[in-house]
Amino acid sequence: MTERLFQPVTLGELRLANRIVMAPMTRNRAAPNGDPTDIMVKYYAERADAGLIVAEGSWPSAAGQAYCRQPGIATDAQVALWRRVTDAVHARGGLIVLQIMHGGRIGSRHIKPAGVGTVAPSTLRAAGEIYTDSAGMQPHDLPRARSTAEVRAVVEEHRQAALRARAAGFDGVELHGTSGYLPMQFLSTGTNLRSDEYGGAAPARARFAFECLAAMAQAIGPGRVGLRLNPGNSYNDIQDADSAASHAELMRQAAPLGLAYLHVMRAPTPGIDAFAMARDCFGERLILNDGFDSASAEQAIAAGQGAAVSFARHFIGNPDYVTRARQGLALARFDRKLLYTPGPAGYSDYPSL
Ligand SMILES: Cc1cc2nc3c(=O)[nH]c(=O)nc-3n(C[C@H](O)[C@H](O)[C@H](O)COP(=O)(O)O)c2cc1C
Repeated sequence: MTERLFQPVTLGELRLANRIVMAPMTRNRAAPNGDPTDIMVKYYAERADAGLIVAEGSWPSAAGQAYCRQPGIATDAQVALWRRVTDAVHARGGLIVLQIMHGGRIGSRHIKPAGVGTVAPSTLRAAGEIYTDSAGMQPHDLPRARSTAEVRAVVEEHRQAALRARAAGFDGVELHGTSGYLPMQFLSTGTNLRSDEYGGAAPARARFAFECLAAMAQAIGPGRVGLRLNPGNSYNDIQDADSAASHAELMRQAAPLGLAYLHVMRAPTPGIDAFAMARDCFGERLILNDGFDSASAEQAIAAGQGAAVSFARHFIGNPDYVTRARQGLALARFDRKLLYTPGPAGYSDYPSL
């Protein structure tokens, strides 16, 4: 019934023992300064029998921090502390990449270190509020638009983050290109009003994400770099006059880089077939996501829709999700109230069977 899901597959330089990927999940268990913690070591090690873990969105520079207690990959200390996570996962035979996430205009000065500003393609504040430990709910900051030279410096930060991730023992990196964070802010017409080479028509709006990918691929090898996209996603106040066309352009630019994979989420918008778009550009090198269970994942792989399927919520309450899926065992629920709270409760204390 689920035989394909448990077959190995190779994506670039990544050799997955099975096709169950743990999707990235921000869980806010790092220290306030972004240093990975002991409970993160336990949490990831317990999930190491996934064919691949995509560790949570982590900032390449302090300006990129979106959320409280979100980890960074920006300092030597963070490299050393992440190394404990990757060593623990590797000791259990696992494979782990780090998602690189620059929040751009999503964020608050109450979260970042003093003096670190919020930056974006254009001076447009995101609607909505963000939770801060020090001041409760706050509006997103009004971001400062980056100059052209500063945009190039952010690309360089992504290159450095990839190098640091490898130094921390990660098997690769994934660029977070969804959910209204910086790459999507550049890509989408509603958040990018620039008139330099990073704004205007779709090829120019896709340039920032493309340059980040190219820099990361040049630094650590394209076979260790993935990209995550979700055409049509409007999360975090994203508007795009033609999200499908923007994403098709980025996929078209990224495909020749020879990346390990495209991690593609189903489009929430009717009329966009994200999996078909992805297959056109990336062929078989796809990790599919959103709302799968083991039976539908098996079907999707059998139908040739992708090489692997990622699961997020199933892994929260089930550290042994792979075993449970293989044996058809019941899944544990999780406590929503404890998704983003500090400490082990509702995070690293869900038992394996
Ligand atoms: C608590 C939580 C945190 C998440 N954080 C991230 C993240 O850091 N990066 C990301 O790309 N997606 C993030 N997501 C989205 C998931 O990776 C995934 O796409 C989504 O939950 C749908 O997959 P599922 O149906 O298997 O849960 C998060 C989802 C949840 C539930």
